[in-house]
Amino acid sequence: MDDKTMQGWLGCWEKKTSPWHHDDVHEAIEKHHEILMTSLTAKNKIFIPLCGKTVDIKWLADRGNEVVGLEASEIAVKELFTEQNIEYTSEDAPAVKGKLYRSTDNKIKVYCCDLFLFSAEIESGFSGIWDRGSLVALSPADQKRYIELIKTLIHPGIGYLLEIPDRDPNNGPPFFISLENLQEGFGPNCSVTKLCAVEKLPPTADIKSMPDMKGMNVFRLTFG
Ligand SMILES: C[S@@+](CC[C@H](N)C(=O)[O-])C[C@H]1O[C@@H](n2cnc3c(N)ncnc32)[C@H](O)[C@@H]1O
Repeated sequence: MDDKTMQGWLGCWEKKTSPWHHDDVHEAIEKHHEILMTSLTAKNKIFIPLCGKTVDIKWLADRGNEVVGLEASEIAVKELFTEQNIEYTSEDAPAVKGKLYRSTDNKIKVYCCDLFLFSAEIESGFSGIWDRGSLVALSPADQKRYIELIKTLIHPGIGYLLEIPDRDPNNGPPFFISLENLQEGFGPNCSVTKLCAVEKLPPTADIKSMPDMKGMNVFRLTFG
């Protein structure tokens, strides 16, 4: 991918190229979704930033969670709902200069906008965040802005799962981020532990174009 900006990603969707997309629920979500369900008193509310058309959204909603996604590409958002036969409505969302898509059963909301226009005033109270192909989709400079934004959505006890590629830091997307940079970005109240190595890569992943890729790992971030 030559253009690593949001425009570059929108171009991928227009060209119908989404090699990162999994048709099946992500194995880390299947095994460890309880980590995102930390609310003891209220319904769990899970945030999936830069969600593409991931099937993890419906899978988590089907298990009784409220799920909030955010994605810049309207093509992706429409495909998310139509390919999984989820009935939806859409409305303008001026606060994010975009649109809000909702499932008619109100379990799923997807903001179609630039992430950097989103804030805790729009949605907050998340029990968990699933960060797959999100932080690592961004160039190292935007990763810092992303972490600053995500920090405003985080509170002690929130569940956070993050997938990171094990590869040359100069290449991407997906971009590697070191545990030191993560720790520095999220601050001293954040602890990072490796949860698992990912066994199933997306079926259309172009591994040959990434000779430096050693694999993907999922980390758990906890906040005190
Ligand atoms: C690697 S894909 C990952 C999609 C999804 N998380 C998944 O696991 O299938 C990254 C996504 O981020 C979206 N994106 C990139 N920059 C964005 C931004 N600034 N705001 C919102 N979405 C963005 C792209 O359109 C793309 O769908």
